[in-house]
Amino acid sequence: MIAFAEVEDVKILVFGDDSILGQDLVRMLDARGVNYETLNKSDVDILKSRDVVRVISGINPTQLVNVATYSNLLKVETDQDAAKLCDLVNTEGVASLARVSEQLNIPLIHHSSSYVFDGTKKDTYTEEDTTNPVSRYGQSKWYGERTLREEASQHIILRTDWLFSDSRGSYFRRIIEECKNSKGKVEVVDNRFSPTHTADVARVVYAIIMQIDCNAQPWGTYHYNALQPLNQDQFVELVLEEAAKLDRDIDKLLPSLKVERLPVELPYLKNSSLNCEKIMGAFGIKQRSRGEGVVDVLEQMYGVRNKQLSPPRKKVTAAKKKAPAKKKKAAAGKKP
Ligand SMILES: NC(=O)c1ccc[n+]([C@@H]2O[C@H](COP(=O)([O-])OP(=O)(O)OC[C@H]3O[C@@H](n4cnc5c(N)ncnc54)[C@H](OP(=O)(O)O)[C@@H]3O)[C@@H](O)[C@H]2O)c1
Repeated sequence: MIAFAEVEDVKILVFGDDSILGQDLVRMLDARGVNYETLNKSDVDILKSRDVVRVISGINPTQLVNVATYSNLLKVETDQDAAKLCDLVNTEGVASLARVSEQLNIPLIHHSSSYVFDGTKKDTYTEEDTTNPVSRYGQSKWYGERTLREEASQHIILRTDWLFSDSRGSYFRRIIEECKNSKGKVEVVDNRFSPTHTADVARVVYAIIMQIDCNAQPWGTYHYNALQPLNQDQFVELVLEEAAKLDRDIDKLLPSLKVERLPVELPYLKNSSLNCEKIMGAFGIKQRSRGEGVVDVLEQMYGVRNKQLSPPRKKVTAAKKKAPAKKKKAAAGKKP
């Protein structure tokens, strides 16, 4: 399906490479030998549309990937300034990228969230299900999607559910600390979800990039998250069982572990897991299980092994003139 010989012609421009997803995406692109440039907020603020146009025109990429977002979903429910910024970044920021995508005829892969749904469905959400965002963050992501559909004809919207990552293992740390401090008692929200390792989503983005590069025109909205939705208490048990293999204190507490479910309150959803049949049909992308990612994050946290660091990134700033990007050769035969 994917012709690796064509990787040399790709030039990807990633917005938001400092995000938890962006970091794994950059590692993936490095590992596959894909030619790319990255921009974070200090390089270009996506709300400054003139800078966005200028920088994209200067780099002249073949595809844009946007993982920049405002993502503090708790803060925006109570802080009006944060809510305004969230609306701006997730709507106007997307609009400025969408307009350039259309003007310069460059496909745009944009990330969105399962939080565009209201969480009341019992089963996993499909792309055809009616959106009804109930949180402020979810609304901003939905407006961003709508803007993109209106402004850019060559777009992919990739919705994912909750992400976990090596680069910010804060959720895992919190659970482990709570388990130790409360002698085996952990409280979680009683929700159903499909948490997914960022490296797995990066694999999916890479597969999409490659198919667009082969002139596929799969524009539209797709869902991806790890296999088998579960309740948050089950996920916590999985994390702690794996942590017990690396942490004697957790191992001792495991037999008396008690994970208590708290009622779901906004901004969280009762169910945010996504159905991934469409992406399988269109791109041949299979869902993977999350177990390997959980082990990966824990091994990082406990210093069992160090992730191979990416080589220094190619940086571009809005103010500086960009030197021509160096093309890299694809790592032949490797698959995500
Ligand atoms: N994390 C999840 O659980 C999750 C779940 C579902 C979907 N997603 C989606 O996946 C994508 C990546 O999420 P993430 O959690 O990896 O993101 P993240 O870690 O919160 O990072 C977002 C990045 O966007 C940057 N940014 C914010 N405002 C910007 C602006 N005006 N101009 C340029 N950059 C700006 C931030 O920079 P600063 O830090 O400097 O502000 C940060 O580097 C997003 O579209 C998100 O909605 C995430």
